[in-house]
Amino acid sequence: MAKKNGNNKKYKILFAASEAVPFIKTGGLGDVCGALPKILKKMGHDVRLVLPRYWSINKEKYGLKPILGPMGVPTGNGVMWCQILEGRSDGFPVYFIEHESYFGRAGLYDDGNWEFGDNPERFGFFSRACLQLCQDLKFQPDIIHCHDWQTALVAPYLKIWERRNPFFAETASVFSIHNIAYQGTFRADAYGFLGLGRDNFTDAKFENFGGINFMKGAIYYADAITTVSPTYAREILGEPGANGLSIYIQRRKDDLYGILNGADYDHWDPEIDPLIAKNYSPQDISGKKACKAALQKEFLLDPKENVPIVGIISRFAEQKGFQHLAIVMHRILRDMAVQFAILGSGDKSQEDFFGGLPALYPGRVGAWIGHHNQKAHTIEAGADFFLMPSLYEPCGLNQIYSLKYGTLPIARATGGLKDTIIQYEEKTGFGTGFLYDQGTPSAVYDTVGWAVSTYYDRPHHMELMRRRAMIQHFSWLDSAQQYEEVYRKAILRRQTWQ
Ligand code: ADP
Ligand code: GLC
Repeated sequence: MAKKNGNNKKYKILFAASEAVPFIKTGGLGDVCGALPKILKKMGHDVRLVLPRYWSINKEKYGLKPILGPMGVPTGNGVMWCQILEGRSDGFPVYFIEHESYFGRAGLYDDGNWEFGDNPERFGFFSRACLQLCQDLKFQPDIIHCHDWQTALVAPYLKIWERRNPFFAETASVFSIHNIAYQGTFRADAYGFLGLGRDNFTDAKFENFGGINFMKGAIYYADAITTVSPTYAREILGEPGANGLSIYIQRRKDDLYGILNGADYDHWDPEIDPLIAKNYSPQDISGKKACKAALQKEFLLDPKENVPIVGIISRFAEQKGFQHLAIVMHRILRDMAVQFAILGSGDKSQEDFFGGLPALYPGRVGAWIGHHNQKAHTIEAGADFFLMPSLYEPCGLNQIYSLKYGTLPIARATGGLKDTIIQYEEKTGFGTGFLYDQGTPSAVYDTVGWAVSTYYDRPHHMELMRRRAMIQHFSWLDSAQQYEEVYRKAILRRQTWQ
């Protein structure tokens, strides 16, 4: 884990991201890329964020204004043009790269079924545009912080294309891996457009089974690499955690740091949350009852005070492990007196399965298929338990939010779940959640059973755990201080880069 910044230096930082709240979010990446710049700005750094201007980002709503005039972006196929819009978020500037044919469509990375075929061009262009924007703005960053495959190429572009550009002579790159399963692997014929140079199409850099791998390039070229929890940093040094990239990560292990995500408690705190039925705090949890009733009403569940509710909010993707829950769901509902409130979208067969449960179990299962922020808050506040059967989880934010809402997580002990949840001890009532090791359907069944029996048989333990959970604090300030230290090290590393 990185230590805190000792020298108190203020940096100029460009965040290059493909999503960030409040503008656009498909998952935790959006939460992090909204919250981390905000706290760094508060700490006195000059932070700026660049996002693509997707069709769904409303210019009027966010008061986005064109700046600079048309901007030419060099690509392997010549110069392409875009427009820059400027907005603000929590006191720092946010720039939007507008290029209608790439970003003026519904969907960020796919059309709901298939990934967009031109993703390498879209995000290659975006990454190049981030560097061009710095120059046109005359903003000479100390650090460019890029995230996941979508902006991974910023790091190699700095070292390849901009190698001899004095403007970037002192700019270091930090690459954050939020999920190593999505590496940005594409067909080789996009390589020419990216303009990364034939010499670099090698196994150590961009080549991947004959195609291109964006993340591999960033792992090679970034001055520092971070990932979103200490446990996940260890997991990606080996397989299967690294999805085939462990040998490349190992080569950079001295520059790898695991920094746990924080939670943005401005938005996720039951004491002040305006989206829930009644506010409550660790000192007075009584409002949680009204939140449970509101959840039951909204999800058409029987209005029973003394039946536990298991909440779920998730992308339905293999990573999240709901295929295991699906296998044991009927058994759970047959054997246990429990209700479920489910909010999710993604995999079509899981959408059909979970979306079909309320018809089979009226009053016991409520499900809403889609993305809905207010319903997410309603579940966090109203449920008794929060289920995350993830096969792997780099950090996970929902369990962190759940702890704050006194909604005890039931989760597999992997990645950030392991780093944030304290295992329940049946003898003493210690702990903040229910963890299991094996990624199997029967482990999901058993652990849900363990939580439900604790609810009925050891209510005093539930009480203790709730309070303990609610006072856990995963502050962005702590994490941001660790990022400051990584920035310092990245700048040093940049100076010795061969
Ligand atoms: P991941 O990024 O892998 O999906 P995280 O736990 O890091 O997982 O973050 C997920 C974020 O997306 C959380 O803020 C969660 O509340 C939100 N989220 C996921 N699915 C939905 C949904 N269907 N509706 C509303 N919010 C959702
Ligand atoms: C990814 C991971 C998730 C993490 C999030 C934010 O989406 O799947 O575990 O919390 O990024 O870092």
